[in-house]
Amino acid sequence: MWLITGAGGQLGSVLLRALTNSGEPVVGTVSPSGPRPQHGETKPLDLANFEAVRAFVRDRKPKYVIHAAAVTSVMAAYENPTQARKINVEATVALAEATADVDARLVFTSTDLVFDGSSAPYDEAATPHPTSVYGKTKIEAEEQLANFTNAAVVRLPLMIGLPAVVRKTTFRNQLQALLDRKPLRLFQDEFRSPISLNDAAQACIDIAKSDLTGVIHAGGPEGVSRLEIGLALARALGINADQIVPSCQSDMQFPEPRPMDVSLDSSLFKKTFGRAAGRNIDDVMVEVAKEIAATE
Ligand SMILES: NC(=O)c1ccc[n+]([C@@H]2O[C@H](COP(=O)([O-])OP(=O)(O)OC[C@H]3O[C@@H](n4cnc5c(N)ncnc54)[C@H](OP(=O)(O)O)[C@@H]3O)[C@@H](O)[C@H]2O)c1
Repeated sequence: MWLITGAGGQLGSVLLRALTNSGEPVVGTVSPSGPRPQHGETKPLDLANFEAVRAFVRDRKPKYVIHAAAVTSVMAAYENPTQARKINVEATVALAEATADVDARLVFTSTDLVFDGSSAPYDEAATPHPTSVYGKTKIEAEEQLANFTNAAVVRLPLMIGLPAVVRKTTFRNQLQALLDRKPLRLFQDEFRSPISLNDAAQACIDIAKSDLTGVIHAGGPEGVSRLEIGLALARALGINADQIVPSCQSDMQFPEPRPMDVSLDSSLFKKTFGRAAGRNIDDVMVEVAKEIAATE
């Protein structure tokens, strides 16, 4: 039995769909106030209720747990650091303890935003230095999980694509702007190594099935700017990119420093699993464009 936390989120919903479609027994937990995904069995579970988290794992006795629930908004974490730490760190530790008690494998989804962006690309040996509350909660959770022999940490980059749930995402907003032929401002000086939601989900599944512990990066093969990501989407959709307006994050003010380049080096993933975690941006966008066409 698989347990996916955050099954109402982008990655969690795609994980739930992938495992359900491949015939695996799987249950997803969703936040009581959040949307329900379109595929698979789900149960509401508030991660702030640590006793409920422990009881759920005790009752369902999963073999594999992928922890994709989190306070994921950098702004939300900045505005409410106590809640961000409670969910991203304390609930993660409660889940790790519960999974260790039932001998389950745990995969914790961390982020490229544990790095400050000054010396990309980052491999697993690079020293984290988060610039945001969000990144700090993730690195603290990673450090706590180092004490658990049943756990692995996967650091994910920006994820691209349609979730298997109806929820607002930055990607959907950008897609809508392109489809509506509205101006879309995108940073040309902010770089990530994006991966599709489907590839990220498969990477998490492969890591769960392995006996890997410690940290592993699962990113796309290249660092690309937000502008290049938008242009690749326009190309794949066959849309004229004139409405995309290059802009610079260095011209803008943010409450916390925003890393310029957190591209990940994912060669350890390739060495471990014999394939790259993600595909280049044009291939990702071709897949995404097919998904978009299929939902129209
Ligand atoms: N998206 C990215 O590009 C990206 C990049 C790097 C790393 N990651 C990491 O990858 C993982 C998945 O990200 P994502 O983009 O799929 O996140 P997401 O769409 O924001 O989903 C996170 C889910 O966690 C749920 N959640 C938050 N607080 C909860 C609580 N107290 N109890 C129960 N559920 C709660 C949210 O509930 P609601 O439905 O109510 O919102 C949401 O469904 C996260 O660990 C994230 O940090 C994401």
